[in-house]
Amino acid sequence: MDKIVSLCKRRGIIFPSSEIYGGIGSSYDYGHYGVLLKNNVKAQWWRALLQERDDVVALDSAIIQHPRTWEASGHLAGFTDPLVDCRTCKRRYRADKLEDGQCGEKPSKCPGQGPNCDLTESRNFNLMFQTTVGPVQDEGSTVFLRPETAQGIFLNFKHYLQFARKKPPFGIAQVGKSFRNEITPGNFVFRMREFEQMEMEFFVPPREAEQWYEFWKQARYDWYLKLGIREDHLRLRPHDPDELSHYSSGTSDVEYLYPIGWQELEGIANRGNFDLTQHAEFSKQNLEYVDTASGERYLPHVIEPAAGADRATLAFLCDAYDEDQIDGETRTVLRLHPALAPVKAAVLPLVKKDNQPELAREILFDLRERIQVEYDECDAIVRRYRRQDEIGTPWSITVDHQSIEDRTVTVRDRDSLTQERIAISDLAGELERRLRAPWRSPKLGSD
Ligand code: GAP
Repeated sequence: MDKIVSLCKRRGIIFPSSEIYGGIGSSYDYGHYGVLLKNNVKAQWWRALLQERDDVVALDSAIIQHPRTWEASGHLAGFTDPLVDCRTCKRRYRADKLEDGQCGEKPSKCPGQGPNCDLTESRNFNLMFQTTVGPVQDEGSTVFLRPETAQGIFLNFKHYLQFARKKPPFGIAQVGKSFRNEITPGNFVFRMREFEQMEMEFFVPPREAEQWYEFWKQARYDWYLKLGIREDHLRLRPHDPDELSHYSSGTSDVEYLYPIGWQELEGIANRGNFDLTQHAEFSKQNLEYVDTASGERYLPHVIEPAAGADRATLAFLCDAYDEDQIDGETRTVLRLHPALAPVKAAVLPLVKKDNQPELAREILFDLRERIQVEYDECDAIVRRYRRQDEIGTPWSITVDHQSIEDRTVTVRDRDSLTQERIAISDLAGELERRLRAPWRSPKLGSD
């Protein structure tokens, strides 16, 4: 993890937030390449749900919703973690994760195990961030930053029956920021207080719930595989009955083998009709679906694949990170799926003269109509290749003296390191063909 954190900082992919003020714990900013990478992750998620299906529609709901939302959803009463304080070092820990914590006293041990540790009784701590709306701070002005994007979808379910003219089974998908006042955030962007979720609520007739639960578990697992995550680093783990949320009759996590061990990447839950029942009761609205043809009426059941955009981005980064030896030097390379790579191709004139920069820029202007490309003419060509390897650019296009004569360029492949000479007129088509081709992580070898 340290190597990934350091590469992300060095190349401006992801770095600690508010650094000029000394930083603010476990808060991160995404720089240029990080934005491009996370955008690609989110775009692939939207693509799988919206473009490749016709039973899912999109939503972008407000972060601050009516406070009754969180009463109905159960978050106000139950979205808590058990918290203990240490009276000696004044630190706070999650009572159920003491083994992951570190005592503030030296020699550093797990909280409770040091000679001077003095832990309080555990108490419940609500993870929702609270604020007020409007100029008067009274009881009625208290609101919460959403701790999940899901509830915004339930609040809009009735609208979608009307204006999207959808009938179950259908899904509503949303991507956006969520906020949780985590007691122990950490492990880079794995657990933060402000993070981005990619969630879909798939509304189904009750009798079809089990079948759709099975479908979405597999579909979401396959999505990560298709984007290049190695199969031996990915698994589906069903929750034990004592792990299940109060609303869930079945949940499975897609887990990734991060450098910190197997951890949740995404949860797929069979939520039954819990949420719609609660919101119907609290809002006094009828949220049933009525089939006009058969007269059948019911509260749909919900299958929810809930993913984290930051955790997914981190998993893709971990899976892609590699080092190899070239000419006796260590090369750091991100072997990202080309569809996720922040930059698809770099255009590099071999020298800064002999009309090579002019031709390289002509190629750049042509390619950027179709894909994310970058131009670089500073430093020796090998150093420029290394810079592109570090951000995972799959192809580097070099303009050399022959290019001026016959309008061909070399295309260097990030993973195989082969260089192919291609006519400039064929370049865009060839790169688009490669981008669409099935892809397998070269870290798996040729077995
Ligand atoms: N609506 C259901 C729900 O929110 P969750 O398992 O609490 O379920 C879904 O969250 C996903 O959101 C997780 O699988 C994870 O990827 C991401 N996530 C949750 N808390 C996070 C945090 N503190 N930092 C980063 N990502 C987080």
